[in-house]
Amino acid sequence: NPVAPKKRFRALRFIWRLTWLSAVGGMAYLTYHIYDSKHPPEQLPADPSKKTLVVLGSGWGSVSLLKKLDTENYNLVVISPRNFFLFTPLLPSCTTGTIEHRSIMEPLRHIIRHKKRAVKYYEAEATKIDAERRVVKINDFSDVKGSVSETEVPFDYLVVGVGAENATFGIPGVKEHACFLKEIGDAQQIRKKVMDCIETATFKDQSEAEKERLLHMVVVGGGPTGIEFAGELHDFFEEDLRKWVPDITDKFKVTLVEALPNVLPMFSKALIEYTEKTFKDENISVRTKTMVKKVTDKNIDVEVTQPDGTKVKESIDYGLLVWATGNAVRNVVRDLMNQLPPQKNSRRGLVVNDYLVVDGTEGIWALGDCSATKYAPTAQVASQQGNFLARLFNSMAKTQAIEEDLYNLDQQMQAATNEDEKARLNAEINLKGRSMSKIKQLSPFEYSHQGSLAYIGADRAVADLNWFGGAISSATGGELTYIFWRSAYVSMVFSLRNRILVLTDWLKTKAFGRDVSRE
Ligand code: FAD
Ligand code: NAI
Repeated sequence: NPVAPKKRFRALRFIWRLTWLSAVGGMAYLTYHIYDSKHPPEQLPADPSKKTLVVLGSGWGSVSLLKKLDTENYNLVVISPRNFFLFTPLLPSCTTGTIEHRSIMEPLRHIIRHKKRAVKYYEAEATKIDAERRVVKINDFSDVKGSVSETEVPFDYLVVGVGAENATFGIPGVKEHACFLKEIGDAQQIRKKVMDCIETATFKDQSEAEKERLLHMVVVGGGPTGIEFAGELHDFFEEDLRKWVPDITDKFKVTLVEALPNVLPMFSKALIEYTEKTFKDENISVRTKTMVKKVTDKNIDVEVTQPDGTKVKESIDYGLLVWATGNAVRNVVRDLMNQLPPQKNSRRGLVVNDYLVVDGTEGIWALGDCSATKYAPTAQVASQQGNFLARLFNSMAKTQAIEEDLYNLDQQMQAATNEDEKARLNAEINLKGRSMSKIKQLSPFEYSHQGSLAYIGADRAVADLNWFGGAISSATGGELTYIFWRSAYVSMVFSLRNRILVLTDWLKTKAFGRDVSRE
């Protein structure tokens, strides 16, 4: 058929043009974003006629709010001891150097410098929220201090997004001897300590028993933090340490300790079993029904529940101990709860209403891990709450503007003598009234669960996903899920710059392996 080659040629030409077009489009997109990120526009100055909105924290909740908030409508003040946003889902990858820590940090200054109206940022911790006087007391606890390191910031509206701290349940020795995994500093400390344990274990004349202890990496907590860290550590050992420090091969051991009968309680049964089986294949020992009771510098005391219900005490030696047992309420939040009678029975954090207003207050909102809602304390929840509050504040500003217009129109109406003029003003008042009631119809916060994802090591991930608003759900685990995990997280990283850095780190690790030097 003589037509066929022609058709094939046309199809090839079409694909060729499409490729070119996508390449040019991609380049234009990149160039625009790079230019835009490097050239922030001039900003409007603070406007004393606008309300002051103070936002505490620079995590998932607060930064999602910041990104979507129309700052033209407010004088915005952000207070946080951390002058960057941290993409926590990839933090476990920093403990072994799969990803470099700066790749998942987004400078807060970049974010606020791109807002319409200038935003004030104070690198400080809020140490007290005075709900009655409407001020926040802030302290600069950084190494460098000026002559003023403690002051007060007044607010009209306040958003509390300070997150949570690590739960230790008052177990003796945890704070002194364990490493946590919440902040960049924690990941750096773990990375350093893993290498320190390895180098110390290979020190001349080290006894076999001491080698065994030093090379025993214990993770407490079988939630997603503990699981992801154990998986990353396994990869580090299998892909790099085994090769560069062969002496440790037969002694390096990872143990995960969990008080409940299984790990990852928020995942479906099939994925829990898949994770436990994968860990077995990876030689990660999972000790369920094992509760840590005491920690010393070299071992942990645990209580193991036997199949017949009896409890047996045991001591486990460790070189590195990582503590990942969930969240506890921060002091500043507890102090605010103590000021407010409706909060007195709350254990998890600030109780809020459907619009995230803190119960017992006016003009104070809370979001993310510091709030107590029916949802799990996750980035997914915090970011959706941040987006919701941005919509709420944007519409509140519009309502206020309309209220002012309505007041002015009403004044004009009262002064008007001409009937035509009165009719025109009346029509305008009706129109404004209608758009005001539309704006005021903001529905309460509703969380849409997209699913849960976790990396479990050996290029495998588990995912419990919800599609089409929960109409379809799926539970998958394995290598393909891992590819999905990677693409999902890279697309969620807030900025193009960080996205490129994360991708480059993954490529670098694949090509050259992880760095085994100790900083
Ligand atoms: P955070 O993000 O913790 O931010 C709190 C902010 O408040 C920080 O900037 C902090 O510096 C600041 N702050 C603290 N104290 C004060 C103070 N006194 N005054 C002012 N500011 C203060 N969730 C998921 O959904 N998916 C995941 O894959 C996932 N992976 C995770 C991995 C790890 C290792 C960890 C630790 C958590 C992970 N999470 C994940 C949970 C998620 O990170 C949290 O739920 C989320 O960060 C909560 O957001 P937030 O804004 O409430 O608090
Ligand atoms: P978690 O609260 O999910 O799990 C902590 C685990 O520690 C629990 O299973 C608990 O039984 C166990 N534990 C508590 N005390 C213990 C003890 N003394 N001895 C032994 N075990 C003990 O905490 P995690 O993993 O830090 O997560 C915190 C929040 O962040 C969760 O809401 C989680 O969903 C979210 N997160 C989500 C991730 C993801 O989606 N991939 C990754 C990391 C965190």
